[in-house]
Amino acid sequence: MKIGTVREVSHAARDWLRKVRKAGRDVFMIDRAIAAIRRLPVVISLGAVRHAPRGCRMKIFRGAIHSLSTPAPAEPVEVCEINSLTDFDSGFARLAAMLGHAGRRPSPGELEFLNSIARRRTSYPGNIGPSDYLFLTAFVSILAPQRVVEIGTLTGFSAGIIAAALARQHGSGASCVDTIDINVECIIDRTRLSGFEIPETFPELAPLVRLHVPRNATFVLQIAKRDELEVTFIDADHRHPLPLLDLLRVAPCVRSGGWIVLHDIQLGTITRKAIEAGRNVGWEAVYGAQWLFDHWPFRKISGGNIGAVQLPHEKSALIPFALRMMSIQFETVEKYARATRRALYESLGALC
Ligand SMILES: C[S@@+](CC[C@H](N)C(=O)[O-])C[C@H]1O[C@@H](n2cnc3c(N)ncnc32)[C@H](O)[C@@H]1O
Repeated sequence: MKIGTVREVSHAARDWLRKVRKAGRDVFMIDRAIAAIRRLPVVISLGAVRHAPRGCRMKIFRGAIHSLSTPAPAEPVEVCEINSLTDFDSGFARLAAMLGHAGRRPSPGELEFLNSIARRRTSYPGNIGPSDYLFLTAFVSILAPQRVVEIGTLTGFSAGIIAAALARQHGSGASCVDTIDINVECIIDRTRLSGFEIPETFPELAPLVRLHVPRNATFVLQIAKRDELEVTFIDADHRHPLPLLDLLRVAPCVRSGGWIVLHDIQLGTITRKAIEAGRNVGWEAVYGAQWLFDHWPFRKISGGNIGAVQLPHEKSALIPFALRMMSIQFETVEKYARATRRALYESLGALC
């Protein structure tokens, strides 16, 4: 037999064997059984200890043991929705009181700016919506950090909104937004670059915005010091457990008591209801950000489909929470589940 023929026969035999194995796995539901075992809290705990870096094994071990007990009841969610420009002043005042800055009022020009944004002609799919940017503007203006890090740039709209709020607090030049995206080309229009709106819609704010592509949340440790940040904004991949992974990756650089704003905390429910109502939304309901917010055991404020979660005083308190979240079935492709689990374990090490 010629070498080429031998190769063809052996490839055909290999493909046939693969098919037989896959069919066998499907019949006996082996893959599903393995995935279910991997989600068992005790298996997740063992994995966390196994992947723990030297020096923080004990802390992760304690967190793992803690994750196996019944969690303490979560703190009740505080609510501050700002649904229209006419509600902005009163919503701002309520949010300011919640954040410990009672009496703070919007800066001059804030409402005018938001009005101009509401009138802008183009809103791109995937951008935060009006009630989201009213909440985000108020949140950033009230806490007025020097710097905000954002995960998920897309067109750059939310980065521009954050930069505008910072500029009104500090003047231009004294503050900045670092916005990070995994894609160089904008996912809604591959002919344009991620962040293309920053120079187009917010030209005067462009010097305040630093775009980091193609990067993910691991990059935050390279551009920020530990415990430096007071506010970050996560609006990237919403499939569970990716919002959790983004949060764990930024958490080392967020100070204790600092805030992480999460977008799309009602996306799963909103999409499910739209599908049930017969609308063709074009994608499945994903719950990653929603579950992260709903299960968050510490202080949290809901602004509707956007919300903020506060880091606990002791960041290692996130370990049992994260391990519990890992037992919820992943919404990502099973092929990547192993790598995602490993990334989650590794991110816990940075919290010790
Ligand atoms: C919902 S859009 C962000 C919208 C943007 N915040 C706005 O309101 O204008 C999500 C973005 O996250 C990016 N992304 C997805 N996965 C990511 C990851 N793991 N790390 C960083 N960015 C990611 C996508 O490329 C996309 O541009």
